[in-house]
Amino acid sequence: MILSIESSCDDSSIAITSIKTNKLLFHKKISQEAKHASYGGVVPELASRLHAIDLPNIFEETKPYHSNLKAVAVTNQPGLGVTLLEGIAMAKTIAVVKNIPLIPVHHLKGHIYSLFIEKDEILPLLVLLISGGHTQIIRVEGLNSMKILASTIDDSVGESFDKVAKMMGLSYPGGPIIEKLAKDGDEDRFNLPVPLRNSKLIAFSLSGLKNAVRVTIESLGGAVEMSRKDKCDLSASFQKVIKLHLIQKSKKIFKTENIKDFAIVGGASANLYIRDAFNKLCKEFGKELHTVPLEFCSDNAAMIGRYAIEAYKKRLFIDPYDIDIVSNKKRQSGTEL
Ligand code: KG4
Ligand code: ZN
Repeated sequence: MILSIESSCDDSSIAITSIKTNKLLFHKKISQEAKHASYGGVVPELASRLHAIDLPNIFEETKPYHSNLKAVAVTNQPGLGVTLLEGIAMAKTIAVVKNIPLIPVHHLKGHIYSLFIEKDEILPLLVLLISGGHTQIIRVEGLNSMKILASTIDDSVGESFDKVAKMMGLSYPGGPIIEKLAKDGDEDRFNLPVPLRNSKLIAFSLSGLKNAVRVTIESLGGAVEMSRKDKCDLSASFQKVIKLHLIQKSKKIFKTENIKDFAIVGGASANLYIRDAFNKLCKEFGKELHTVPLEFCSDNAAMIGRYAIEAYKKRLFIDPYDIDIVSNKKRQSGTEL
């Protein structure tokens, strides 16, 4: 069995997975969302302190499995430095004390492997990753063969949902709140610009859209003056433009990449309106759409454990005294993840 740890942002999570069967034997996640909500976003030092409390508590619950552990895995990049360190310190200690191998896991590769929790791998695969920190289209051919084909040049999709929600005086995280309000809204009321619509660039950009939302809010007299209907309509109009942007750029990729299997992963892939649009697009292009069970879209250790099973088989270990956090880098397209 592998014990895996995730602490890259505001979720403390530990999982136990079976190397032989891919089965998820234990999984627990303590989300800190409510604790950060009043700040409108994640406060790194607070997140770090909460991991220091929650991770050892979850670890206690995994005791029945400890005698069967063959390896320990941990997210070591990308993420918040002070929160990654909490998981890494714990993983290092377990590896040294139990004398078992340590597997470092790239968080985004973990999101990709959330597709395969309790399942077999599907490769090659085209993946649209939409999370709080990243927005990318990736061609996945193997554990160490993941090429970024498109990337955001500014904000990420999840981040833009969070920022728009904050501007409207709504809580954090903004994604689920905006999706809910949008259900009651008129998506054609506000004419927001589709980013890079007339550009040949195969990339994403969300800061201009965010600005257009800000100007719209100001024209309505600011967040406090907005009625519920205003908020529903603006949420729906914003979400529609996000969908159009993602679809337009994915379509361009579909025309050049003939991989049959396509997947959407990451926290924002829980958005059913976006999923529905990709369902239609994939049908149009004869692609098979793969999605992640809603409970595993946002950060969790089960996906880290699933990646770690494949890494274990390939002996992708690291000396516990050498593991360190790796700061964010290489986000541009054309590079390996
Ligand atoms: O993958 P994730 O848990 O963390 C990162 O790795 O960044 O993604 C969190 C992000 C947040 O920005 C949140 O607002 C967004 O995912 N999100 C959504 C939805 N649920 C979560 N965005 C749009 N619609 C949703 N239903
Ligand atoms: Zn994530």
